[in-house]
Amino acid sequence: MDYLTAIGSLFTAEGRDDPYPAYDAIRAHAPAIAVPEQGVFVTSHALVNRLLREPTVRVADTRNYDEFWPTWRENRGVASVVLSMLQSNPPDHTRVRRAAAATFTPRRIAAMRDVIAGQVEDLVEAMPSEADYMTAFAYPLPVGVICALLGVPAADRPWFRQRAHDLTVVLEPISTDEEMRLADVAGRDLEDYFVGLIAARQHSPQEDLTTALVEAGALTGEEMLANLVLLLVAGFETTANLLGIGLRLLLDHPAEADRLRADATLASSFVEEILRYDSPVQLTSRFATEPLDLGDGVTVAPGSGVTMLLGAANRDPERYPDPHRFDPDRPTIQPVSFGGGAHYCLGSPLARMEAQVAFPLLLTMLPRLALNGDPVRRDRLVLRGYSTLPIRTSS
Ligand code: HEM
Repeated sequence: MDYLTAIGSLFTAEGRDDPYPAYDAIRAHAPAIAVPEQGVFVTSHALVNRLLREPTVRVADTRNYDEFWPTWRENRGVASVVLSMLQSNPPDHTRVRRAAAATFTPRRIAAMRDVIAGQVEDLVEAMPSEADYMTAFAYPLPVGVICALLGVPAADRPWFRQRAHDLTVVLEPISTDEEMRLADVAGRDLEDYFVGLIAARQHSPQEDLTTALVEAGALTGEEMLANLVLLLVAGFETTANLLGIGLRLLLDHPAEADRLRADATLASSFVEEILRYDSPVQLTSRFATEPLDLGDGVTVAPGSGVTMLLGAANRDPERYPDPHRFDPDRPTIQPVSFGGGAHYCLGSPLARMEAQVAFPLLLTMLPRLALNGDPVRRDRLVLRGYSTLPIRTSS
């Protein structure tokens, strides 16, 4: 497969189902490739790490959107993401990220371990003997955890789950009009909800992250809303996909699953290898603001797009020998699945903890857990995972 066909295939259903052959074909041509009108595609682990930390390589912000898509503010789903820290650059990004990071303290996250374990146990106990694991476990867990962190009452969680699900489509490069309409409705609903939650916390503070953000006072009202919505959206589908991808890999590698079942202290290296092997976020995009020389005759012109194929970087044979093998015993895994540099995933300690708690508990509480039919991939390029994963819990 030549590299242009390979890049094109990522935008087809087949390529989305298994993008790894295309990544190999692109990488075989060069670690970074300039494609006319589409910008530069990067597959090398070292280069992705470098570019994520390059100050002149920035995320598209409101100015870019005003120029290329003047009506973007009319879709509240899109607007909530564009106005959040994910799509802002310094100095706004630095200020907002600092305020949010100050609420995401190691103490607050460590305190979530028992909450996560409690929710895992409740979900496992309620699991029927035949179920879709995504519906019964992988989606409810991250929503339950982020809602507990933000101070959203348990009764509102199913409502949140649907809205978060509808909104994540704005993170994809291609979506239908109907999907964008649902994302708009979800963005409006979630903002209305958070307006109410912020007012409630201003009136009567609680021990939650929403109260901490309100009390920090560093964010405008619009920024607070956008970033509360972001915390929900950024952490929901991504973590659900990590839980789906990880379970599938464990069921496909029963000897490895037995090792984890017998020794939960292996959970950290298992989760890193799951993240590396099949990253729940496959790519992230930037724009160059200055000319950039990437070596091998590849230069990036100012204004040109830079697409970092995180899923490809995680399978770069220069960094990981035998990259297509699932091997939790690899030394220093360090995948780029959570990005890097200024936008490095704020929720990574939480996501890691959810997976590290969930997998050993699932394996020990459900020793006969097995696939019960063919898993179905989500037809998405950026947020990779399963839409259904049929399981049975008794033989
Ligand atoms: C940013 C991945 C879970 C909150 C990011 C980025 C990636 C990522 C790749 C960087 C995007 C970029 O550079 O353009 C993931 C994965 C997750 C996960 C794979 C789960 C397996 C979470 C959770 C939360 C969260 C649980 C919060 C509760 C955020 C936020 C940002 C972010 C706020 C933006 C940071 C910034 O712009 O400074 N995530 N994420 N993520 N993530 Fe996550």
